Amino acid sequence: MPQYPTALQNPVFRTISKATKNLNLESYVIGGYVRDFLLKRGDAKDIDIVAVGSGIDLAEEVSKLLPGNPKVSVFKTYGTAMLKSGGIELEFVGARKESYSEESRNPAVENGTLEDDQNRRDFTINALALSLGDENFGELLDPFNGIDDLEKKIIRTPLDPDITYSDDPLRMLRAIRFATQLDFIIEKDSLEAITRNSERIKIISKERIVDELNKILLSKVPSKGFALLHKTGLLPFILPELVALQGIDEKEGQTHKDNFWHTLEVVDNISKATDDLWLRWAALLHDIGKAPTKRFDKKLGWTFHAHEFVGAKMVYKLFKRLKMPLNEKMKFVQKMVLMSSRPIVLASEVTDSAVRRLIFDAGENVEDLMTLCEADITTKNPKKFKKYHANFQLVRDKIVEVEERDQVRNFQPPVTGEEIMETFNLKPSREIGIIKDAIKEAILEGEIPNEYEAAKEFMLKKGAEIGLKAVIK
Ligand code: CTP
Repeated sequence: MPQYPTALQNPVFRTISKATKNLNLESYVIGGYVRDFLLKRGDAKDIDIVAVGSGIDLAEEVSKLLPGNPKVSVFKTYGTAMLKSGGIELEFVGARKESYSEESRNPAVENGTLEDDQNRRDFTINALALSLGDENFGELLDPFNGIDDLEKKIIRTPLDPDITYSDDPLRMLRAIRFATQLDFIIEKDSLEAITRNSERIKIISKERIVDELNKILLSKVPSKGFALLHKTGLLPFILPELVALQGIDEKEGQTHKDNFWHTLEVVDNISKATDDLWLRWAALLHDIGKAPTKRFDKKLGWTFHAHEFVGAKMVYKLFKRLKMPLNEKMKFVQKMVLMSSRPIVLASEVTDSAVRRLIFDAGENVEDLMTLCEADITTKNPKKFKKYHANFQLVRDKIVEVEERDQVRNFQPPVTGEEIMETFNLKPSREIGIIKDAIKEAILEGEIPNEYEAAKEFMLKKGAEIGLKAVIK
């Protein structure tokens, strides 16, 4: 059997080994830590330890041997225990045999051997175990040839995939997530089993589904995951709004692009430019308003009138349904969807005032918006591709120039409502709003600079126009 002692260089493994010996047990490192070590993905901070015997007892013994005796958190119902040592989280569990019920993910648990425990795990690459025994420290136990699957980049289940996925349907998403994150292929029987069992995803909590979606979205090429979700029939249960974008209609010889596949391209494009999860969500959802707004007009052809507005509203419903945060992250995604067509309109004619308005409306998110719009360029025509990018570069340059000069990003009117009231001896009234708006418009249109003196002069002029008398000059 191959040995991997270099995987266990952290002194904590020797401590666990000692504790195991004291209790006369067997113990193994298993799962993600071993997989990621072999894939050279860097040291994982979560380490799963399986004990043939009580995982809780082993955790208590390890704590006794560690400096400072870190606190052990025990989860009795699951028979697991956790402790933190030197920035590492150690999870202890007793080896088990499990059988799951139809209705929930909560298994009935029985004690088992290491092999029983490996059997009940999700994938062969996650069932790899390294011994922490005194005599065979670092020995690999790999009954399903997970090493081979790692090398060939294959996601395969240890048992019949129908059993593995039906036992815990979250694993269908995990399979797709690992395939996307690691750039692996899901083996054929597994893929078919996911397709057959897709409906069982319904018993999984929204939070866990979103966790996996986020990991897919944060991968290098997220489209791989979404294409698999689509192919296996999982997507309708998770993001039906995206499924509705798929397909091309034809009327009177006119077609529109397939907005589902376009969206996936946009997500891949944006992922080259940013690691921001929420900007990637915005790319994923930027066109969702196109399905409900699609119309055919004899003169105009296919239209998606106000799809940005409808899409922004859908973002709220979608976040709520998936129990995602309804905070400023959601608002950011809404704003990006709502504004997603603004720079494109601008690109044909880059005027100062239009750029000023864009900065004013997008505020601190103007660069993110530009990143989204650049990612949205998926034309296969190289001439157009070049032209659109060049135009957006002009917009970006103009943003810098206008911003330096006019500073409208966090626009504060140079003349306050209070000053307007004092100047014209007004009580709170409609006129104040009219004057304030007129000043803002004049600045955005470039009629006056964004400065106090100019704004004050404009205020006096505007006040006179609507019949107000200044009491202070
Ligand atoms: N596991 C499983 N079925 C699940 C979840 C987890 O069989 N639905 C097993 C796998 O052996 C997995 C281990 O439990 O390797 C630890 O799970 P977790 O910490 O969630 O995942 P990792 O594999 O460590 O990977 P990541 O941290 O990327 O999620």
